[in-house]
Amino acid sequence: MTASGPLIQIRDMSHGYKMAGETMMVLKDISFDIDYGEFVAIIGPSGSGKSTLMNMIGCLDISNSGSYLLDGQEVRKLSGNRLASIRNEKIGFIFQNFNLLPKLSAAENVELPLIYRGLSARERKVMAQEALQKVGLEERMHHRPSELSGGQQQRVAIARALAGTPPILLADEPTGALDTRTGAEVMQMIKELNAQGHTVIVITHDLEIAAQAKRIIRIQDGVLVEDRRNAG
Ligand SMILES: Nc1ncnc2c1ncn2[C@@H]1O[C@H](COP(=O)(O)OP(=O)(O)OP(=O)(O)O)[C@@H](O)[C@H]1O
Ligand SMILES: [Mg+2]
Repeated sequence: MTASGPLIQIRDMSHGYKMAGETMMVLKDISFDIDYGEFVAIIGPSGSGKSTLMNMIGCLDISNSGSYLLDGQEVRKLSGNRLASIRNEKIGFIFQNFNLLPKLSAAENVELPLIYRGLSARERKVMAQEALQKVGLEERMHHRPSELSGGQQQRVAIARALAGTPPILLADEPTGALDTRTGAEVMQMIKELNAQGHTVIVITHDLEIAAQAKRIIRIQDGVLVEDRRNAG
């Protein structure tokens, strides 16, 4: 299944957006590797390019130049369909605003990414239930998002990211919409998932969140300016 080498290998990645005929560079020659089991925070001020980089890591977009090997595969060479299926297999997304579908129950939300895996309804149900159990929300599985607190909604989103056990959990400001205490609980859960072997990448501008990761990559004006291990 897996080639030897890092889970993520990014080399000389650059990306720009065309604005009024001029290209504004947002990522500039970014290079780094992330290994299986790491817990990395990507930090930087607003507008520094964090979400743009997340889109690349998450195979939601392809950079203008550079290379990106995900689990040994060059993402640049994949067609739209292959890209979508790699994304579904390899990456569980956690967003600031949870991105749950309001008309679906917690269980149905968690099942959603599994539909593309060609699993039976029965298999999906079991996997969704297991994932909700992992985040301690089994007894809320029939609730809709509006019937859950913010922290519970984010836990449903974490369950959705976990279901199908993709190797990477990719979170963009996962505590950004939560109060301090609930945010700390969500971070605790993310830490536990890393301790269980999940590779975690958290994008944040919050230094307290970043301090909980084992490694910090700092982006400034689209440039990787720091890459260090956290002492703790
Ligand atoms: N689709 C787009 N078209 C044009 N410019 C864009 C686009 N997406 C992002 N940008 C610009 O790229 C730069 C980096 O944006 P990005 O969203 O990656 O920053 P960020 O570090 O995630 O910021 P924040 O902390 O505020 O979320 C910004 O100057 C932004 O205006
Ligand atoms: Mg952002």
